[in-house]
Amino acid sequence: MFNNIDSMSVKVPYLITVLFIGFLISTRTYALSIDDRLTRVIETFSLNPASCGQTNPQIQNDNLVALGRFLFNTTVLSGGKDTSCSTCHLDSKHLTDGLPVAVGVGGHGEGMARMASGGIIVPRNAFSLFNRSHPKYKTFFWDGKVIEQEGLIYSPIGEAASKGFNSAFSVAAVLPILAKDEFLGEQQIYRSSRNLELVESVYFDEKFNAANKLINELLTFKSEEIKELNKLKSEAGIETLNLANIGNAITAFLAVKLNNECQVSQWDKYLAGNKQALTPVQKEGAILFFGKGRCAACHNGDLFTDMGFHSIGVPQGDFGTHIHGQDIGRAGITFEQKDRYKFRTPPLLGVSKTPPYGHNGSFQDLITTVRFHVNPIPFLAKNGWTSERELLTYGKILSSRSEILGYIDLESEQELEAIVSFLEGL
Ligand code: HEC
Ligand code: HEC
Repeated sequence: MFNNIDSMSVKVPYLITVLFIGFLISTRTYALSIDDRLTRVIETFSLNPASCGQTNPQIQNDNLVALGRFLFNTTVLSGGKDTSCSTCHLDSKHLTDGLPVAVGVGGHGEGMARMASGGIIVPRNAFSLFNRSHPKYKTFFWDGKVIEQEGLIYSPIGEAASKGFNSAFSVAAVLPILAKDEFLGEQQIYRSSRNLELVESVYFDEKFNAANKLINELLTFKSEEIKELNKLKSEAGIETLNLANIGNAITAFLAVKLNNECQVSQWDKYLAGNKQALTPVQKEGAILFFGKGRCAACHNGDLFTDMGFHSIGVPQGDFGTHIHGQDIGRAGITFEQKDRYKFRTPPLLGVSKTPPYGHNGSFQDLITTVRFHVNPIPFLAKNGWTSERELLTYGKILSSRSEILGYIDLESEQELEAIVSFLEGL
């Protein structure tokens, strides 16, 4: 089903344009003022503010929003009755958890204390949820396991638009509920491990149906929270709760929350015409980002992502989702050799608020992340590998590194720092 999604073949003409523009920006425009140069970049890439006010005008039904708020914050849907969306998407951390990799059911506490609390590790770095209701946001998760194309939404629960989900975001919002490590856990509440296995081991329509069955069994339990859930469900005009209306409710809530809480970034203000909003160093950084840094070959568009899949050669550690603790990224979805170690280009709006970085949180700060793109060797020499096995298998990952990275033409620490300064304004 995913075979037709080949990000590279679609992107090649675009890439040539980016590289050519990079060349022009870096060589031909020095006679112009920095604002004129940046304005040219903005016009060439047709960039628009995207941090605020771009929310998909979904059903802003107050009752649905109230149900979504409850669902986002409740632990009743989790197996151990200890995990909610807000466990890992914290208000205090720009809706991430601040950890290298997330800790799901069985965990408690926040921050580093949570890492050591004995919960099940979800071997990926949590994303923020800001901007996810932007109409251009159509590919979700590090491996793109939810993707919207031509009105169809592909996902592990099958084509989802026909099941009543109103967006890819809405599908992405319910997948955590189906994950053993994030939510299902040791089924204290679901009791029957047969049901748990059913949800975990099946795909597409079967997964959707098995999950809906579990949810409705859950609603028959007697507790104050379940009573509240049933009440909110009725007020929202929903007869039978299922994954689709849960997803639609959570995203209706998030759309309102994200819109209310978003901050207009320095970059947005600059795009809106305030030439003082960025410092001179940030403006240089922006020009480098779109120019000889070649960053926009992948981090492009208003959201700073091509929604495509690339490898930058991030070391794996020994705790990945796939075989031998590896995380093969996109290939885990497409089963194609060429997709090994590729991850969806992360969006960069608000990026300075969500350390650590990379799909497994390998990088503590932005400068380390950017340096690694340019040249991974110093990072590897300094941090080593987590095991002998990893050291010996790293060659495979290295050879997956996108050749686009070879075009990056940054030559001084000062240039790297300017780019980081620009990222801090996003
Ligand atoms: C145990 C921690 C944890 C919990 C609980 C959790 N998430 Fe996440 N969330 C993550 C991690 C880690 C990722 C990245 C996973 C990946 O890409 O494979 C993520 C990714 C996402 C994404 C995709 C964002 C993007 O840009 O692709 C959405 C949407 C999301 N979570 C929403 C939710 C909702 C809604 C809930 C509650 C139903 C929830 N999450 C519960 C940790 C968690
Ligand atoms: C070949 C495509 C590509 C290019 C070019 C590229 N990146 Fe990336 N970038 C990625 C991918 C893919 C990741 C995630 C990789 C992973 O975690 O395995 C990433 C991760 C990042 C992150 C971490 C974001 C997060 O939330 O974890 C930052 C910051 C970043 N890139 C900035 C830059 C900058 C600055 C440049 C230019 C110097 C650049 N990138 C060039 C593809 C690219």
